[in-house]
Amino acid sequence: MNTASYTTEAIQQAITQGAITEAYQADPQQVIEALNQLRATEVTSYLQYKQHAYMAVSLFAPGLKNDFEAHATLELHHADLLAQRIQQLGGVPFYSPVDIAAQAASVGVRPEQGPTLREMIIENLLLERQQVAAYTTLVRELGERDPTTRRLLVEILADTERHASELADYLKSTSEVRP
Ligand SMILES: [Fe+2]
Ligand SMILES: [Fe+2]
Repeated sequence: MNTASYTTEAIQQAITQGAITEAYQADPQQVIEALNQLRATEVTSYLQYKQHAYMAVSLFAPGLKNDFEAHATLELHHADLLAQRIQQLGGVPFYSPVDIAAQAASVGVRPEQGPTLREMIIENLLLERQQVAAYTTLVRELGERDPTTRRLLVEILADTERHASELADYLKSTSEVRP
């Protein structure tokens, strides 16, 4: 291509802004902040599911350990997807555990490890529901101002609603479960 038809300033701006053009109608800093908050809930969710997988070992529902592991893997994938988008928007994903804990707590998410299997599943359900609410709110706020972020959030939201639904169904079907 012939870059001579572009001013030095235009080329510099293109390099600085990458994917962000004048058609981008959201505030990148606000979106980055919100994505970092959501990502912190995903990292927390990952840690919580891993912890539950470790602790479910000696309990009498062996399939749940694998379910917790599978959920943990997907939560980490969600965190990765959000990190990629944060980077594309010119931001930096939080990586300090202190920052991640603070960001997750700011939307009401803290890692929990109840003493029984049933309590663990309830904790996971509550965490997933907090995420469903947070993702739904951000999707609505973004509207059409950042279609790529919106589409990503909708994809993660669908996984999260599926998790919440599965956990609720499990609790309904095993209301007598005690480890
Ligand atoms: Fe997730
Ligand atoms: Fe989930």
